[in-house]
This record gives sequence, C-alpha cells and structure tokens, in this order.
Amino acid sequence: MATVTGSAGPATESTPVALPRRGGPSVMTLRQDRWWIQPLVTFSILFAFVVYVTWAGFQNRNYYVGVAGHPYLISPLYSPCIAHSCVSGSTIRGFHLSWWSFSPALLILIIPGGFRVTCYYYRRSYYRAFWWSPPSCAVQDHHSKYTGETRFPLILQNTHRYFFYLAFLVNIILTYDAIVAFTSPGGNFVVSIGTLVLVVNAALLWLYTLSCHACRHLCGGHVRKFSDHPIRQRLWKITTPLNARHMQFAWASLIVVALTDVYVRLVASGAISDVKLF
Ligand code: FES
Repeated sequence: MATVTGSAGPATESTPVALPRRGGPSVMTLRQDRWWIQPLVTFSILFAFVVYVTWAGFQNRNYYVGVAGHPYLISPLYSPCIAHSCVSGSTIRGFHLSWWSFSPALLILIIPGGFRVTCYYYRRSYYRAFWWSPPSCAVQDHHSKYTGETRFPLILQNTHRYFFYLAFLVNIILTYDAIVAFTSPGGNFVVSIGTLVLVVNAALLWLYTLSCHACRHLCGGHVRKFSDHPIRQRLWKITTPLNARHMQFAWASLIVVALTDVYVRLVASGAISDVKLF
C-alpha cells in the first residue's frame, strides 16, 4: 500500500507513512488530480439547498394550492401541515397543534432535516466539504486532532436510526399527499404536472429511505442464519441493491424535494397554472 511520508517527496510503494494532520509539514497533498472538485460541488449544492429550504420554511405562505385550484397539492416542506397557522384545507382531517402558530415547516423539517444531517452518506460528504476533515482521500486533515463521533455534539449522529423511523412515517404522509393529488376540485380523477411532481418526489424519498444503512441493518442485522429468517432475508435482499445506490438517491431526492416546493409555490402564488394532462 502506498502512503505518504511527512516530506514533500514523492510517495513510493515502499514508503509507508501517514499523511500529517494540520500542524505537520506544510504539504497539503501530493495528489496531482482535481481532488477539490468533489468537495466544492458538494459544498455548493448543500449550501444552496440549506439556504433555499430556510427561506422557504420561513415564508409560511404559498405552500398549498387550495380547493379552488388543485386540492391536495401541498409542498413536501409543509406536509403534514400540523400548525395552528395552517391554511384551510391543508391539514389532514383538520388535525393541528394549537400551541404552534409559527410556520409549520419549522416543525416538520426537524424530521427530514435530522434524517439527512445524521445520514451516513451525508456525514461523509459534509465532513469533507464543510469541515475539511479531511477534504478528500490523501489530503491533509484541516484539524489537529480527531475525536470521532464519541463526544457531544457529534455523538448525536447515533440518533440516525430513530430519525429513520420518523422519516418513514413522513414518507407515508407524503405518499398520501401524492395519491390524493389525483383528485380534481370536482372530486374526479385527474393527472396534472403537479400530481406527477408529488409522485416522483414521494418515490425518490422512498428510495432514499429504503436504501438507508439503518434500514438494511433493520432488515438483515443481528441474524446468524438467514435460513431461520426467510422474511428478513427477503427484505435484506431488496434493500441491499438499493443501499448500493444510496448516494444517488440521496442527491436525487434532495434536489427533487426542493424543486417540488418551487413548483407548488409557483402554482399557489398564481405565477403559473398547474397543467392538467388528462
Ligand atoms: S444512511 Fe443515509 S439515510 Fe440512513
């Protein structure tokens, strides 16, 4: 295995040394390729997403089209709408929390936000892109010491499996939103661009959630003999190939959930009309 010495000299197959942490020799890396592109792209997308979702979450309007336009077309950032301030028709069977009168998104986003922040894949990505810990393979760590995820606040990353359970429930609600979005204002079956947007969004969120490492472990973890647990083996076989594509589902679902909010927001504000397909 080729590793690097503390000097700026070239690495060879016979010089096994570890890259220094910050405070060591001044060389940051011996890599000649554009290793910085990946953390830069990651930083740009995640930063843009956080800025947009924060802005959208504080808007507290234009998240629900309403019965006059397309009933049940609601932004995934605001569903389930459970705040006292939710506009008429946006709650599920009128359920809301009377003690919460701020934007419902600020309450709802705790679950998908916590799920993504503690996601194993995103952790790797934002540790590299935001904290440079390390920014890439064989590039010097920007921090002088490493404590892992054993102390506060990073020990909270271990709550991921609980966010998985909550995100699973939110996905059920977003799937419900997508299904009822096939209903026209008159109560008939309808397919519009908005309907399809909600369906694609829900599908990608399911793929992201079911490909989660915690989900795969839930299906096949702590099993000594799969032959004794055929159902768990079957579930494990379904989640394993999904798990291999977790990174792709993570990015796709992240981008589509933001675009879904943009679409619903444009329709709800009257900037565009939801085009009926049939
Ligand atoms: S590991 Fe990414 S969502 Fe669980």
